[in-house]
Amino acid sequence: MNGPAPVYLDYNATTPVDPAVVAAMGPYWTEQFFNPSSGYAEARAVREAVEAARTAVAALIGADPEGVVWTSGGTESDNWAIRGAWAYWSGRRTRVVISAIEHPAVAETAAALAAEGAEVVRLPVDATGVVRLDAAERLIDERTAVVSVMLANNEIGTIQPVAALARRARAVGAWVHTDAAQAVGKMPVDVDALGVDLLTVAGHKLYAPKGIGALYVRPGVPLGPWVRGGGQEGGRRSGTEPVPLIVGLGAAARLAQEWLAGPGPARQAALRDRLERRLLEAVEGARVFGREAPRLGNTLAWAAPGWTGAALLAACPGIRAGTGAACHGPAESPSATLEAMGVPREVARGLVRLSLGRSTSEDDVDRAAEALVLAVRRRT
Ligand SMILES: Cc1ncc(COP(=O)(O)O)c(C=O)c1O
Repeated sequence: MNGPAPVYLDYNATTPVDPAVVAAMGPYWTEQFFNPSSGYAEARAVREAVEAARTAVAALIGADPEGVVWTSGGTESDNWAIRGAWAYWSGRRTRVVISAIEHPAVAETAAALAAEGAEVVRLPVDATGVVRLDAAERLIDERTAVVSVMLANNEIGTIQPVAALARRARAVGAWVHTDAAQAVGKMPVDVDALGVDLLTVAGHKLYAPKGIGALYVRPGVPLGPWVRGGGQEGGRRSGTEPVPLIVGLGAAARLAQEWLAGPGPARQAALRDRLERRLLEAVEGARVFGREAPRLGNTLAWAAPGWTGAALLAACPGIRAGTGAACHGPAESPSATLEAMGVPREVARGLVRLSLGRSTSEDDVDRAAEALVLAVRRRT
């Protein structure tokens, strides 16, 4: 194969594992293989590595390390948070409030609870892709067991008013969960500023491996055990810890904290804006979704008129990006987020989801813009 490598602009789907993360994990596959629950010195050193990783993840989200529990990733954390809250309230509170733009890990969990008697309420979003607080005031009440609203949307990047939702939820005694899978590592996240009880972290969205994540559980929140067995993770999620993956997530959390404190985020947002400008200027009638709202600096949800996202990307073999809800499965389904925003179906079909990473360069962005614009012009 000749020619330049494809431009990867699908970092919201997943990130590569950072080489420094791979290096940090290295010894824990081989010589440091010991079970962290064993009693001898070598195992105690492995336990210390697990706890150092916990401290690093906690620091990234402004949490007490005691509140960080390892999971297999975002989906598991979301399932546990919502099911755990439902189990705690066990018939005493029957309402589960989510937003209309949640990832299926939340939406499908809530839908499953509906079959078990929950009254699932989906908070609407406005035309900019942000949850409507007026609706939240009305719909979050004393019947509510849990409110689960994502911090940043995976499709269009809009940042949700989680702190305000949490205030409302707390005023009526409900638990608050936020799926921060897309936010952690891309923007500052602080569990106390947000006022949440539960928060989801997904490793592979922040340059850690797939198969590791965390659920933040505010100390004192009586969330029941998720996996029972040998009592690891304070009895909350039993099973021998995947030490290399945990060490990897810890290393990724440290890198993310450094990146957030440096010039990276502003540089990334400037590149995203450059791409956005080009795609709006060169393609008549093109749309960018969520642009009027606070938005992740790496995300660009764009549509060209008369195209489906899949057809446009098929015409751009040098770009790796997402369409509709493609990351959820093989079928091409329209974006639930755009639907909730009231975007007409024929416009929503055009969605191309572009998301930048830490190493995305100006050249990457320019090559992607050129390819997309050329493809559109060739046909029109
Ligand atoms: C907002 C959001 N929540 C949850 C998930 C699921 O995370 P994981 O793939 O780690 O299970 C994703 C991944 O696409 C996501 O974007």
